[in-house]
Amino acid sequence: MIPRINVYALPNLVEPDELATGTVVVIDILRATTTIVHAIAAGATAVVPCGTVEEAERLAEMLRQTDPDAHVLLAGERECLPISGFDLGNSPTEFQPERVFRSVIIMTTTNGTQAFRRCRKASKVIAGAFVNASRVLQELFEETSAIHLLCAGADGEVTRDDVLFAGYLVDRLERRSGLRYEMNAQALTARENWQASFVEPYVSGAEPVPPELLANQLKRSRAGEKLIAAGMENDILEAARLDRFSCLPTFDPASGIIVGR
Ligand code: MLT
Repeated sequence: MIPRINVYALPNLVEPDELATGTVVVIDILRATTTIVHAIAAGATAVVPCGTVEEAERLAEMLRQTDPDAHVLLAGERECLPISGFDLGNSPTEFQPERVFRSVIIMTTTNGTQAFRRCRKASKVIAGAFVNASRVLQELFEETSAIHLLCAGADGEVTRDDVLFAGYLVDRLERRSGLRYEMNAQALTARENWQASFVEPYVSGAEPVPPELLANQLKRSRAGEKLIAAGMENDILEAARLDRFSCLPTFDPASGIIVGR
């Protein structure tokens, strides 16, 4: 059976019930899912997405009390900036093995960690970013039911970095599988967006897109503009390093925890 591909440019464009079957890919290129991939690749045991700062602090406190030996770290951002009293911000390069190996990272971000909550009724949820793109595709080629590409957005608005990655996945799924998927209108728009943003040999994947070229496109997004204004332009380049990692962060809606695969 050929699966259907649905792109949702924002979490509130889909109801949790509609995500119940198939595979959901949560996408927040700048920066939550890029950073989660970095964290898992650096050896973090788990990432726990939280909605609010208070919820994250409460959970960290509880975990530290339950297991004083646990290496619990608080991470996240508000308005792109690190949260006061937290151990880490949301810059992917902060998540190095010497800092996060074997840690449980309690994370709250403005949009990305909220998008995971939209998946509370889903059966399979993975975190996707350009930095683990091929691993995500490998998983999606196996999907025989529905593929849902759920973009986190930025401050409740659509942001081009997420849509570009959704379009990249749609393009690659079609080209490499040779299948004609059924898709919603947002999937068609996302694919057009990707195809209009690059020329050969990059648009088709004959050669990987160089990070600088991809970063130039990511900069032209709502989330990119916010990061540049906050002096964090380097994070955009890190988010553009296609296939840097081969891990697949997987979210379990029952426990609310992300672990690596
Ligand atoms: C988010 O989840 O809202 C983003 O990742 C924003 C950011 O990193 O600044």
